[in-house]
Amino acid sequence: MSGITLSRYLVEQQRNNPAITPDLRLIVESVASACKAIGVAIGKGELAGVLGGAGSENIQGEAQKKLDVISNDILIRTKQANGTLAAMASEEMDEIYLIPTEYPQGDYLLLFDPLDGSSNIDVNISVGTIFSVLKKADDNEVTVTDFLQPGTAQVCAGYAVYGPSTQMVLTFGQGVDCFTLDRELGEFILTQRQMRIPEDTKEFAINMSNQRFWESPVQRYIEELLMGSTGPREKDFNMRWVASMVADVHRILTRGGVFMYPVDSKTREQGGKLRLLYEANPMSMLIEQAGGASTTGRERIMALEPQKLHQRVPVVLGSKNEVERVTRYHNE
Ligand code: AHG
Ligand code: MN
Ligand code: MN
Repeated sequence: MSGITLSRYLVEQQRNNPAITPDLRLIVESVASACKAIGVAIGKGELAGVLGGAGSENIQGEAQKKLDVISNDILIRTKQANGTLAAMASEEMDEIYLIPTEYPQGDYLLLFDPLDGSSNIDVNISVGTIFSVLKKADDNEVTVTDFLQPGTAQVCAGYAVYGPSTQMVLTFGQGVDCFTLDRELGEFILTQRQMRIPEDTKEFAINMSNQRFWESPVQRYIEELLMGSTGPREKDFNMRWVASMVADVHRILTRGGVFMYPVDSKTREQGGKLRLLYEANPMSMLIEQAGGASTTGRERIMALEPQKLHQRVPVVLGSKNEVERVTRYHNE
């Protein structure tokens, strides 16, 4: 183990990468402390009465879990006072959240999915927090338009995964590094530098129950995988689907694979299932920074010009050669 704490790592990164300003460093440190607090709440589970529904819906018409709301509140509370942000946006808030005027204002915008995979929370399966940092374009008062920047404009992206251990995975655009929470010390410790995704894989992740709704390129691709060594791919594939994007992406960053949440006839009207700004973009930046690829099936996700705060997109990401194949099938 490196013994390098997240704080020490950030100070070192700041020295070597001029894009990491003191404010950006502080943003990541305080996101990490919010994630520790979220991890504690999740860890108490039934003992603290935090499982189950909150009895409300978010703007996407999804029932909110108590922990969706708790995690969102923790992020807002931790982040609003430190003078680095101009505004925040979250899956769980209809509108953007401007930093109240009693607090000092900064230049950055923070976007997050406070609790990803929340359908898994009541059954004690890994969940996570996804975040993305943008810089606002000018000195005018922030509006939602400031948030509608392509993924290529992200200055930092990352997630925390609350699994058997709590880990935090980060990129500032110079590779992807992974930290593990030392619960005794209460510190994230650097445990892996420069994660790399193998270009080829034998593992795929897709919700097979949607099969009858898929478009034909997805049908063809999955059919070929299922034929295994007796089909055109001439090798057997294995399937994993955690249904927490964070956990599925973490597996792919760790050992490769392809993850797909394609658009289908059920989700065509809304554009897909996953959200562009606080799910697909940060995950795409991490995947690309680790040598993988990420597309909608047709175009690179990071190049999309967002139109709406809660916009949804189809997602195909992971091992480069598989993502390129799926994208080729769509464009043929
Ligand atoms: P969230 O819990 O933030 O709404 O996200 C859930 C997402 C994602 O984590 C996962 O990949 C997908 O929804 C699971 O969808 P299915 O239930 O259709 O498998
Ligand atoms: Mn999510
Ligand atoms: Mn969520």
